[in-house]
Amino acid sequence: MKTSSIHGMWSSRLAFVLAATGSAVGLGNIWRFPYITSENGGGAFVLIYLGCILLVGLPVMFSEIVIGRRGRMSPVNSLRELSDAVGASRAWMGLGFIGIIAGFLILSFYSVVAGWTLHYGFLYIKELFGAPGITDPDATFGSLLGNAGQLTFWHGVFMLMTVGVVALGVEKGLERAVGILMPMLFILLLILLAYGVSTGHFWDAARFLFQPDWSQVSTGMFVTALGQAFFTLSLGMCAIMTYGAYLPAHVNIPRVGTAVAASDTVVALIAGLAIFPVIIAFGIDPGSGGAGLIFTSLPLAFAQMPFGIFYGALFFLLLSVAAWTSSISLMEPATAYLVEATNLSRKTAALLIALMGWLLGLATVFSFNIWSEVTIGDKNLMGAIEFVATDIMLPVGGLLTALFAGWVLSKTITKEELDDKMPDWAFKAWLWLTRIVTPMLILWVMASILGFL
Ligand code: TRP
Repeated sequence: MKTSSIHGMWSSRLAFVLAATGSAVGLGNIWRFPYITSENGGGAFVLIYLGCILLVGLPVMFSEIVIGRRGRMSPVNSLRELSDAVGASRAWMGLGFIGIIAGFLILSFYSVVAGWTLHYGFLYIKELFGAPGITDPDATFGSLLGNAGQLTFWHGVFMLMTVGVVALGVEKGLERAVGILMPMLFILLLILLAYGVSTGHFWDAARFLFQPDWSQVSTGMFVTALGQAFFTLSLGMCAIMTYGAYLPAHVNIPRVGTAVAASDTVVALIAGLAIFPVIIAFGIDPGSGGAGLIFTSLPLAFAQMPFGIFYGALFFLLLSVAAWTSSISLMEPATAYLVEATNLSRKTAALLIALMGWLLGLATVFSFNIWSEVTIGDKNLMGAIEFVATDIMLPVGGLLTALFAGWVLSKTITKEELDDKMPDWAFKAWLWLTRIVTPMLILWVMASILGFL
């Protein structure tokens, strides 16, 4: 059994928890969760999403960490070695390649949206120094989307920030960013939550988020909820598997996995409870949705709050940091693989991947302006990329991950990685979920996409 990875190791259990939480908590919680919840009508969707976290997210989270730590290499090569070790087909390496491609696709639009948050942080800083403020949030957001040059610029800035950390190796800068700045973002969310309560619309928001209207449930809702569960936990593309490869042998996987999933879920719910009162208070239809939701609603709140401009600057900058610690994990699997498969240095490998991600991101940039007429089905280019990567590739990756950990790896191996750290009933529950329940749920949702059900 290997005890270390050629790419480096986390210095402690805390370092892994911080890195994995940094990866999980990001735009998925604060940008994506509110806007897709809005589009899916609230309550029922949120409960289905929470169900997906428990029944699919947690088992796959454990599986990814187990595979990564056992293999100790990039996902592609960990899967090759483990397949060889148990006499399974090397075709399982394909899971690693699917992960790399999904990571690219997600990185490409993720970086563009993170660019929006940088731009907003910058707008508020300028306002602190006397520039005119955001008086008409819809117009401000609309003019940003219409400006391909500006979008490309911020997308480039964000990609450079990401490549900087990945090139230097994952650990040092990251631990600090996550350990200090993420708690600050959390405190800011709590301040926003307090403001939300002060609007008098907290309970309306809670009702929207948690009171299910089961008559509204559609198969599309299950597809979106499952995709979001994977997206928000950073699962299904071998990112957490890669982080698991750097995890010291003594660390208790169930405990760290659960901690990461729980913090991520709490942040998403608090973000929802902070943002929806504002939306309702300013007379926006909570079901109006759209990828611009937080960018068109939160500025209304910041314009009214005491110290609002200052909070606005801090909020969007910290959100950019949260996105930063997430995007690193989108690049890490591909970078680790390139380093193993070629004789490129880590720096060159990371730069190459960032350049490709940046170029691909231009499709998202142009989907709001010069290519806004281009649609695939009912989606623009960004919507199509987001759908294919998040709602199809991540669940497929998660399915293969669960099957590999549950059926292909021997029970001796998974027991060794999980069992002595977890009571017997819990190991049995994990095995049962990973072998049967999780794959069936994913297959059922996938089948509904194809219109089979
Ligand atoms: N989880 C991050 C978020 O919520 C996004 C992310 C980072 C991700 N790494 C990932 C999503 C890997 C899927 C797979 O913002």
